[in-house]
Amino acid sequence: MGKIFIAAGLALGLSFGVFASDASASSGKAAPSQEWTFDGVFGNFDRAQLKRGYQVYQEVCAACHSLSQIYYRNLSEIGFTEDEVKKIAAEFEVPRGPDDEGETHEDGEQIMRAAKPFDKLVQPYANEQAARAANNGALPPDLSLVTKARKGGANYLHALLTGFADAPEGFKMQDGMSYNVYFPGAQIAMAPPIDDDAVEYADGTKASKDQISRDVAAFLTWTAEPELEDRKRIGIKVLIFLIIFTAMLYAVKRRVWAKLH
Ligand code: HEC
Repeated sequence: MGKIFIAAGLALGLSFGVFASDASASSGKAAPSQEWTFDGVFGNFDRAQLKRGYQVYQEVCAACHSLSQIYYRNLSEIGFTEDEVKKIAAEFEVPRGPDDEGETHEDGEQIMRAAKPFDKLVQPYANEQAARAANNGALPPDLSLVTKARKGGANYLHALLTGFADAPEGFKMQDGMSYNVYFPGAQIAMAPPIDDDAVEYADGTKASKDQISRDVAAFLTWTAEPELEDRKRIGIKVLIFLIIFTAMLYAVKRRVWAKLH
């Protein structure tokens, strides 16, 4: 019997190895663990939370950070209806591009059109130079994959956003930097982007700084791993299969050996 457990344990261990996400090293203070609806083997995204997180991204973070991997149509996956997605997209403008009707302005200016669900989210800056110029030389990174690219993922995001504080006495701050122990080196070129009531939630949730950070961290987990729920569902099926398969092999082995004794 012990062998069954060892085999099942091995199978479990291997499968969880597949679940664990890759993260690069960072030297900031370790982010405390928060509870997330998408934690664990049975975790799921909370659609209402993702919608709030999108609202935070759009109203606050999108002023500086792009989300280059996301199309407006993807927002239907977090609970917006098709009409809502069309409306959201139509609030933004994108260059029409020469292939629409071959038109260009004589003065070289781009002709713009309202964004459509098949467009990518509009980016805040035309290019990296413009982004740096607007941010004291620092580059606000694209946030599409940031929860996967940083150790701690959503926990790190939440800690970073709530972790701004006054620098302790004697700490050498560079100009234009903010003190934050969760960022490597404890100073970051991003001013604290949120405070209590930085947004007014469409669904009436109280917008504390903690809530806002949590919601946008959940949203950015979805942008980085939109397939997370599918992956977990497949993982569970694989686990069940492995357990049954192991039990069957064991039964077969016993039968074969019983005859030989
Ligand atoms: C006014 C511009 C601005 C706004 C608004 C802003 N950020 Fe930033 N953000 C920056 C800059 C600049 C950096 C680069 C900091 C650095 O490298 O020191 C940055 C860095 C980051 C990082 C990367 C930290 C790391 O580990 O490298 C994350 C994550 C982040 N911001 C999240 C957010 C979120 C979420 C919001 C919205 C709630 C937001 N930011 C709003 C300018 C901004």
